[in-house]
Amino acid sequence: MEQFKGLPRLPTTAVPRRYELELRPDLDACKFDGKLTITLDVVEETKYLVLNSADLVIKDKSVWLRGKDTTKVLVPSNVGLDAEDEILVLEFEEALPRGKAILGIEFQGTLNDQMKGFYRSTYLINGEKRNMAVTQFEPADARRCFPCWDEPVCKATFKITVQAPVDRVVLSNMPSIEEKIDGASKTVSFEESPLMSTYLVAIVVGEFDYIEGTSAAGNKVRVYTEVGKTSQGKFALDVALLTLPFYAKYFGTPYSLPKLDMIAIPDFSAGAMENYGLVTYRETALLYDEKHSAAANKQRVAIVVAHELAHQWFGNLVTMEWWTHLWLNEGFATWVSYLAADHLFPEWKIWTQFTDQTMEAFRLDGLVESHPIEVEVHHASQIDEIFDAISYLKGASLIRMLESYLGAQCFQKGLVSYIKRYACKNARTEDLWAVLSEESGESVNELMDSWTKQKGYPVVIAKRTDDGLELEQSQYLSSGALGDGQWVVPITLCYGSYEVRKNALLHGKVGGVNLSDFKLVEASSQSSWIKLNVGQTAFYRVQYDDVIAARLRSAIAAGLLDATDRFGILDDTYALCSACKQPLSALLSLMDVYRQELDYTVLSCLINVGYKVSRVVSDAIPDSAAQVKLFIINLLQFAAEKLGWDPIAGESHLDAMLRGEILTALVALGHEETKQEGLKRFNIFLNDRSTQLLPADVRKAAYVAVMRNVTASDKSAYESLLNVYRETDLSQEKVRILGSLASSPDPSVVREALDFSMSPEVRNQDAVYVLFGTSSEGRETKWLWFKENWDLISKRWGSGFMITRFVSSSVSGFTTEEKADEIQAYFSTRKIPSIERTVSQSIERLRINAQWVKNVRQEKGLEDILQELAYRKY
Ligand code: BES
Ligand code: ZN
Repeated sequence: MEQFKGLPRLPTTAVPRRYELELRPDLDACKFDGKLTITLDVVEETKYLVLNSADLVIKDKSVWLRGKDTTKVLVPSNVGLDAEDEILVLEFEEALPRGKAILGIEFQGTLNDQMKGFYRSTYLINGEKRNMAVTQFEPADARRCFPCWDEPVCKATFKITVQAPVDRVVLSNMPSIEEKIDGASKTVSFEESPLMSTYLVAIVVGEFDYIEGTSAAGNKVRVYTEVGKTSQGKFALDVALLTLPFYAKYFGTPYSLPKLDMIAIPDFSAGAMENYGLVTYRETALLYDEKHSAAANKQRVAIVVAHELAHQWFGNLVTMEWWTHLWLNEGFATWVSYLAADHLFPEWKIWTQFTDQTMEAFRLDGLVESHPIEVEVHHASQIDEIFDAISYLKGASLIRMLESYLGAQCFQKGLVSYIKRYACKNARTEDLWAVLSEESGESVNELMDSWTKQKGYPVVIAKRTDDGLELEQSQYLSSGALGDGQWVVPITLCYGSYEVRKNALLHGKVGGVNLSDFKLVEASSQSSWIKLNVGQTAFYRVQYDDVIAARLRSAIAAGLLDATDRFGILDDTYALCSACKQPLSALLSLMDVYRQELDYTVLSCLINVGYKVSRVVSDAIPDSAAQVKLFIINLLQFAAEKLGWDPIAGESHLDAMLRGEILTALVALGHEETKQEGLKRFNIFLNDRSTQLLPADVRKAAYVAVMRNVTASDKSAYESLLNVYRETDLSQEKVRILGSLASSPDPSVVREALDFSMSPEVRNQDAVYVLFGTSSEGRETKWLWFKENWDLISKRWGSGFMITRFVSSSVSGFTTEEKADEIQAYFSTRKIPSIERTVSQSIERLRINAQWVKNVRQEKGLEDILQELAYRKY
């Protein structure tokens, strides 16, 4: 036993080929019984079989082994379970000979409440609360349902049988082939699966209705919803029916299973899970209600469905060899989901919206406490934390960068070969690069290794010279410190027009671009702007010298730049200012040229930057807090006036999303008129739930308006909002309300909302939304509350990745060194491995905020500039 402890991977002396699994869940007692026979290959003579098992009881004397072609049965002399390493070690008297063998095990487990392994979720039917049984195995929880070689590389086939009450729906990865009814129970057996990894196995037992359809490529798709709610599954079904053939064509390989089921699960820790042939979702990520869902909800459903279906190829058919390559799965699915969404809904301008995802990756990867995309994983407990913005969003952004460098067609052809070559197998990052190199003739690994093997990213400093540009790269760090990373940077630039373009690779620290062949353009200064990283397709920031920066401002004001570039310039400038590389005044004068902005993605960025600027000014120069808010409110007026509160006939999806964002921001920034309008409409809505005056897109704005108005002495509106929460059975509406509840400026109301988040009225999966929505005035209360509730929080959420969200949002919003010290001290006595990275990242952020505040406090002349900007007339 000892020799198998502390190993990062299972020994490879024996490998599984086929699992025959029988499960008998007891939905009332929340227990299950299981029986397994595993066909294995003993590759090397060994006395031991070592596999994963956790939280399971192995039935006494139930383990046996026999050679494939003999009847001689061996019984292990010792059966050892190691709870820490989650392994089951079977020791035999004599070495097992090489060759095929069959292993039998019987076991028992609990349908837990942790939303992982084989767990229970609850639902209401005719007012009665009932249990369903659901699986969530990724990354390493199949071992909580049955003993197995629980590593992605150990692909095997699965023949699954489930016994359940006769009136329940029973689903698994494959179609059922037989149902045997025996009194009140039935035994459902499923077709044997193709080769697949354990983390993709799925079983659901519950009560559902479904709708179904067949795609143009002949794929049978069903969407399972709560009983009576199938109309809410229609949109996701349509997306799936169009997406499957799109991917089949794009990847050059058809969808490989005979059916695809998608199902909404009431208690679910992630957003969705790509189980092969049986994709599970949170209700908010699958269901769409014509009347009560917002445009943003619709987009979310489409993106999540497209993401999970992408995994059916990228992840399920071709699987990462080990979790170090998780980014291949998640980065790729994220990138491809945008490709599919763009194909289905070109009017959503989803690639413009993608710049926002890249920005999220920039935020995390600007920290010293970030990590490389390819990250070492030594223990199962470390896997959860790498499902983060680095794997997903930096991953997706790098793929976008590579695609635009190689060209879309060449890139796709490479992918087709990759999928064909590794179908039903496993691959590493370098395997993908090798195929793409073959296809393109470029040495892709040389370019990409600098991006995937080291953390961070560069800022390229661009200075105008007589005949062109001087470029220098250095690592961008949000703290402003100097990092020593270097990258191979694909430089693109446009000069005066999108027609005039140059591409180059920056290999070393410095380089240059000659622009003397473009002399003519220089004639008119307004049109002689220079923009690097055209379309924001690459993963670097740019710092321009004052001359280029001023011309870019004019170009933005004159409407000459695309939305992605307007976004990039704003976000890069924000990032450089908050890292104290540029004065706040530079950011303010840039923001000022976005007054006529109407693009959804750019305005969302302006709003976010606006919140940050408002916070830093309020903390650094409290006397200017009102002015900075007024300045930002004024910036949003143009769009606000165009959009109003009511939908405009025939308006675009993006305008519908924008309306909600702008109005919510205006309320949060304290725009009195917008707040009053929100209150008025909420009151109409209270009397008439079907009023046209409060469509789903603007409800969040009205709810925040309500809460901004609630004080300890008058909480009636809070109670009314809670009643709306209690009444609705649409998860999206519940989440919208939860996200507004703590936005009151009154700390005692914030506390009450936070307490409510822990009550039985809020599912464990949703509590954190209340925390996310805490007002800036409530930051101290939020932190106090978190400390008081730490024991409960760590008990309830400590075993999964959800705890990281509690930690990061509870400590966010502070801007002093003292607070950073206090928080650091607090967590130094509460070390749990699953939050280690999050804690260090959060503390780093706090210190960066503190430094910015200090810097802004010292900046000369800011009060006057803000005064000027706030009251300027246009
Ligand atoms: N494979 C993940 C689900 C997952 C996440 C499992 C974390 C285990 C731990 C799934 O494909 C996924 O990425 N879901 C996303 C939604 C997606 C649209 C980004 C999610 O859960 O948020
Ligand atoms: Zn995914």
